[in-house]
Amino acid sequence: MQTLEFKNGDQMPILGLGTWKSKPGDVYHAVKEAIHLGYRHIDCALIYGNEAEIGKALSESFEAGDVTREEMWITSKLWNDAHAPEDVQPALEKTLSDLQLDYLDLYLIHWPVCIKKGEGFPLSKEKLISLDELPITTTWTAMESLVEKGLTRHIGVSNFSAAKLKSLLGKANIAPAMNQVELHPYFQQPELLEFCNDNGVFLTAYSPLGSADRPDSLKADDEAVLLDDPKIADIAKRYSATPAQILISWAIHRGTAVIPKSVNPERIKQNLAAAEVSLTADDMEAIAQLNRRQRYVSGRTWVVDGGPYTLSNLWDESA
Ligand code: A2P
Repeated sequence: MQTLEFKNGDQMPILGLGTWKSKPGDVYHAVKEAIHLGYRHIDCALIYGNEAEIGKALSESFEAGDVTREEMWITSKLWNDAHAPEDVQPALEKTLSDLQLDYLDLYLIHWPVCIKKGEGFPLSKEKLISLDELPITTTWTAMESLVEKGLTRHIGVSNFSAAKLKSLLGKANIAPAMNQVELHPYFQQPELLEFCNDNGVFLTAYSPLGSADRPDSLKADDEAVLLDDPKIADIAKRYSATPAQILISWAIHRGTAVIPKSVNPERIKQNLAAAEVSLTADDMEAIAQLNRRQRYVSGRTWVVDGGPYTLSNLWDESA
């Protein structure tokens, strides 16, 4: 398995198992199966509500001698209601306790969005805090102390635009090593990829298969279904592969980590085997043509009447 090598020599397996939308009852089996098949990278987050089951699967896999802690790469994410500096370490400690781990490999700020502590959905402007009131740099200083204490080996961000990343890179003592964002052939973000390559920040592609299982509230009526794309199907046929495998292989060929989610043993296996599919430059060029600025995770969740977040200030794009 190809890896991304961090500045201290740590190696992140480029393909990991995604766990967003994996129900607690399913994710335990999915993680055990994935480890058994050879996955060495699991992507988690507190807000996914399933870290305790993942922790059970991890600890049983360690105890059974299937894999060691050092062989695994575990990522998790700080939820939006814990950006206040005093809340950052307790949030990580909750994740570590649920995952039954002493340290993470990578801890990410999940969104450049702050919610008041303990507040949830539905959101209202009273529940949100602007980034002027609680700047990312304040949260970042607390994230840096987690590295110094050995609670996580690396820190990074998620859902950050190049502009937000640039601003953070200019002020950080420990540079963010990773930005985890939506990336797939319908939303390729070539400028962000170039910025990250130029600035020593890795990217992880989330929703690489188009996240068809996300809640209806996050879906638009007119959206194109990535897994049904005819061009991807054509390429898949030539490799005797599946469309999902082409999508995963495409992400790896761009040098990004990729975290397809599945709770189905056959698909977990199939997705891992995508790392063996070797696309040509012509295939990559053909897939580059599919870009259509289709976000499956729009960020609209954070936009409420009178609130501090808009789609344009979230993504630093004109609406
Ligand atoms: P399942 O978990 O039942 O396998 P994403 O990673 O973009 O969020 O996409 C996850 C969705 O894609 C889930 O609905 C998942 O279903 C499905 N999926 C995962 N692997 C494959 C595959 N190889 N072929 C088709 N669908 C897949």
